[in-house]
Amino acid sequence: MRKRLPCSSIPIRATPDETGPMTIGIVGGGQLGRMMALAGYPLGLDFLFLDRAADMPAAQVAPMLVGEFTDRKLLRELARRSEVITFDWENVSIESLRTLGRSASIAPPLAALAMSQDRIAEKKLFDTLGIPTTRYAAVESQASLVRALRDVGLPGVLKTRRLGYDGKGQAVVRNLEEAWLAFERLRGSPLIYEEFITFDDEVSIIGARSRRGEIAVYPLNRNLHREGILRLTRAPWGAPALQRRATTHLKRVLEHFRYEGVLNIEFFVRNGRLIANETAPRVHNSGHWTIEGAATSQFENHLRAILGLPLGATTARGHAAMINLIGRMPSRDTFIGESELHWHDYGKTARAGRKLGHITLLADTVARRDARAKHLLRRIDPTSARSL
Ligand SMILES: Nc1ncnc2c1ncn2[C@@H]1O[C@H](COP(=O)(O)OP(=O)(O)O)[C@@H](O)[C@H]1O
Ligand SMILES: [Mg+2]
Repeated sequence: MRKRLPCSSIPIRATPDETGPMTIGIVGGGQLGRMMALAGYPLGLDFLFLDRAADMPAAQVAPMLVGEFTDRKLLRELARRSEVITFDWENVSIESLRTLGRSASIAPPLAALAMSQDRIAEKKLFDTLGIPTTRYAAVESQASLVRALRDVGLPGVLKTRRLGYDGKGQAVVRNLEEAWLAFERLRGSPLIYEEFITFDDEVSIIGARSRRGEIAVYPLNRNLHREGILRLTRAPWGAPALQRRATTHLKRVLEHFRYEGVLNIEFFVRNGRLIANETAPRVHNSGHWTIEGAATSQFENHLRAILGLPLGATTARGHAAMINLIGRMPSRDTFIGESELHWHDYGKTARAGRKLGHITLLADTVARRDARAKHLLRRIDPTSARSL
């Protein structure tokens, strides 16, 4: 068996040797894992996934262990066959990963994963690091809801502390009646109540920190959500001062955890100020544009970071727009003849609200990018296009 270097020692074996290509173990086999594998093959890497179903998007491109994320036997097998274990979504079982102990090298760090799994821990970290965030209060009971409404005020958003994604597990609350209705619907899980931000924009910043401590940050993304789901990302976006501030916040979180891998922070922008919303300790949907729109994609930089390899340049190649294909795949052949348009099909079965693929388009000016993005969004998602 290959000799494994202790956790966080650098670099991990950086080139393939006589034992064959190095394998990256990925917990979660969704489209993010799949795109990670597709980015890693040119680096000479192999992949092995763990997920609950055999028909996940990653299964079309790499072998898959099928079972629960808490299955210790499968996790041990994944660890035995992989140089490093990473994940493609944040709701994996930390407790189960911890049982692997020093037999596995895991990146990003589990402490960062734990923080991002709990919206209260996330807000506390923002507070500790001096990153402005929404006012909030924990809600566990009717009495604490009353206190939260009094302290935070109306309107607000009641959210489950854990397991939320794509706007699931949350409700906007405009008055007391809506607050009680939302509480009745969501109670049973620990909750957070936070102020509703009337934002001018939503943006996210993505960057990588490598095992060597090197940091590379992408240009800021501007995001359009509808019904809690990302519809459109445009990048680069924002004045240099905003980019600098977002970068400073991101670096603080990266350094705090001595992070390894790609990290994302979502912000609201109000009156030119950044208000942190949430983090994702992984590659992120708002970074898909980097596949064609940046010198090195977020997927490749994540792999480089967790392996202790030099990070690739994050500079943009022109102006990119990424449109999510949700619920139904449009006809591929109608679109792929267009110049600088890149089609991504995740190989999933269509279902309402499900992310099935995305399109990235590139343009040489902001005006051309925005005009094309609007035109394309009108054809694919007319409701979202109306808010542009
Ligand atoms: N406090 C808030 N004020 C205004 N809009 C919010 C607030 N919280 C969430 N939203 C909206 O809902 C979207 C999804 O919420 P988010 O907290 O990012 O959860 P997730 O992405 O995990 O589902 C946000 O991108 C934003 O558009
Ligand atoms: Mg979000």
